[in-house]
Amino acid sequence: MSERLNGKTAIVTGAASGIGSAIAELFAAEGARLALLDINGAACDALAARLHHETQPCLALQADVTDAERMKNCVAETEARLGPADILINCAGVNVFHDPLTLSDEAWQRCLAVNLHGPLNGIRAVLPGMLARRYGNIVNIASVHGHKIIPGTFPYPVAKHGLIGLTRSLGVEYAAQGIRINSVSPGLIMTPAARAWLESCPDPQAEQQRQRDILPCKRIGEPVEVAYTALFLASDEARFINAADIVMDGGRSQIYHD
Ligand code: NAI
Repeated sequence: MSERLNGKTAIVTGAASGIGSAIAELFAAEGARLALLDINGAACDALAARLHHETQPCLALQADVTDAERMKNCVAETEARLGPADILINCAGVNVFHDPLTLSDEAWQRCLAVNLHGPLNGIRAVLPGMLARRYGNIVNIASVHGHKIIPGTFPYPVAKHGLIGLTRSLGVEYAAQGIRINSVSPGLIMTPAARAWLESCPDPQAEQQRQRDILPCKRIGEPVEVAYTALFLASDEARFINAADIVMDGGRSQIYHD
């Protein structure tokens, strides 16, 4: 195994499940010191215990990304225990799908709070240190929902469009000070959240088959595939890529007509 993140400290939010866990595992294998943040503290503890080595520590921090003060404290604790944060991966997110007319204010606010304000909280927590060191790589996990509209998924696409806007605007804002901010927009990736959505469909097996069939590559994505894209963007290999978004959906979003 190569060590593309050797000597780097990375903070990963939403690390207890799905894509965030896959990123944590890959980053650990690539030599990063890690702080795993998630609202699910127990699952985070279990993953951190598995990835921790004396020479390459892995820290678990229970945190809600919507709590700006807690995010600042987590970054302070990470930097005290692991060294300066070089990388932030904003992966924590939730599916919020409602009929626009009956959507409650609480559900709208929760959708924006976790999927959009959460990444901003993470960025504002790491930025002062990154700016002082003139070095930092931030990757936001956005979605194809940030590019195309799938009927019946409101208001999740609003937040993901906003997250791509956040990536572009802040990427430009801090580019001259050594900070890169990029995003990844996955299509359907088989994670616990995706499985829960499939299970909520009237015929989960048929829906899974339909999802496979509409993709040019005829298969659903895997969390590790998103992790490899995040790894590239977070590494110095991508040092001239900034304020960009990489769509990874097996080519689906290029189709106009089936
Ligand atoms: P998941 O539900 O398996 O994992 C999400 C993790 O985020 C969980 O561990 C959860 O506890 C954590 N989390 C949720 N709210 C939080 C909060 N307020 N504070 C801290 N942690 C919180 O979901 P999955 O599928 O791995 O999604 C990860 C990211 O990828 C999300 O941002 C999602 O929107 C995005 N995404 C997922 C796709 C998919 O098909 N699975 C496709 C495109 C984007």
